[in-house]
Amino acid sequence: MTTVTLHDLRKEFDDVVAVNGIDLEIVDGEFLVIVGPSGCGKSTTLRLLAGLEDATGGEIVMDGRDVTAVEPKDRNVAMVFQNYALYPHMTGRRNITFGMKSSGDFTDEAIDRRVGEAAETLDIADLLDRKPQAMSGGERQRVALGRAIVRDPDAFLMDEPLSNLDAKLRIQMRAELAQLHTSLGTTTVYVTHDQTEAMTLGERVVVMNDGRIMQVDEPQTLYDFPANRFVAEFIGDPAMNMLPVDIENGTAVHDAFAIPLPNADGGLRNGANGDGDVPIRDGRRAVLGVRPEDLYLATERPDASGETLAATVDVTEPLGDSLLLHCSIGESPCKIQAKPRSDIRPGDTVSIAYDPARLHCFDPESGDAFYHSESDASSESVAAAADQGR
Ligand SMILES: Nc1ncnc2c1ncn2[C@@H]1O[C@H](COP(=O)(O)OP(=O)(O)OP(=O)(O)O)[C@@H](O)[C@H]1O
Ligand SMILES: [Mg+2]
Repeated sequence: MTTVTLHDLRKEFDDVVAVNGIDLEIVDGEFLVIVGPSGCGKSTTLRLLAGLEDATGGEIVMDGRDVTAVEPKDRNVAMVFQNYALYPHMTGRRNITFGMKSSGDFTDEAIDRRVGEAAETLDIADLLDRKPQAMSGGERQRVALGRAIVRDPDAFLMDEPLSNLDAKLRIQMRAELAQLHTSLGTTTVYVTHDQTEAMTLGERVVVMNDGRIMQVDEPQTLYDFPANRFVAEFIGDPAMNMLPVDIENGTAVHDAFAIPLPNADGGLRNGANGDGDVPIRDGRRAVLGVRPEDLYLATERPDASGETLAATVDVTEPLGDSLLLHCSIGESPCKIQAKPRSDIRPGDTVSIAYDPARLHCFDPESGDAFYHSESDASSESVAAAADQGR
């Protein structure tokens, strides 16, 4: 069993703060994904876990043991890299067994048995006698995984292991990794900058920005209840629309529309300062967040009630399964995911309806979410977001 706890973990390189005080509890056997934009500190966090970097501050505890200053080889974790890091002059088998042989911890029989098991799990038996140059990218990545699993580590640490593969192979390997995790049950920390990979693979997802954790939650919770504007815009494609509004009498008032916020009395919260159920000030400024897929043409659902917004279509993008409309609502740009095959043209004025259960409000300065219109889970999520303190 392996739980990993990070306490106020920091890493500075000269004048760069790569990891800026991270607190995180990684549960035994979970598949945890760290996602965030380039340079946010994902790889550095993983390398700190592996012991490949020395922490500037804070501590790393594995199963109750402080390993912050422990050598990588004594941590019993296995790292899988983006570039596979296979030795080109060695066969698949030698690549897999190299670390085991040199450690002296394993008999030849034990090594053979483990390679056999790994080869079966990963379906790489016929790659064992080939050198990397005679393997495809996906095959190399499987051999690199084989090298990690033969060691039977306490945790896998994977840094963008699929990003050198083409799109199709990536989707296939993604499913294989998920299966592998189900069968081995080994605690896994997986780093990617790809939000789709994060959402599909992660049992929980850590969103990072600028060396800090923005939110840790299950994928659907991140999508439904983003704790702040960064997460709201990072998770989901196309990104959530952000419209500047004033809150007046529980209504979001924009230059071009006014829409009532459901559950405004009970649901409006000032989560940003951690006070929980504080009704927000009338007249305060806010950023109203609505996802493109939660907006639709009023003509698509004639029976829907509620307000509609007038929008001018600037650009149309047929995506096959939907029609993405780049619009202007007053002065604000806004994307709308409409049904495909409609004959809308740039320059048209359209009437837009929205899903009232999917509205979000963010503080214009701090970016913290203080309102989600869906009532059930929102209270917990907003309070939790405030507790995490960004
Ligand atoms: N060895 C180093 N020396 C100096 N700065 C470094 C070093 N390693 C990383 N950094 C800096 O630390 C920050 C975080 O880097 P890191 O590699 O962790 O980012 P990342 O989230 O993995 O990004 P990417 O998605 O591009 O891989 C960056 O600003 C990077 O330039
Ligand atoms: Mg990286």
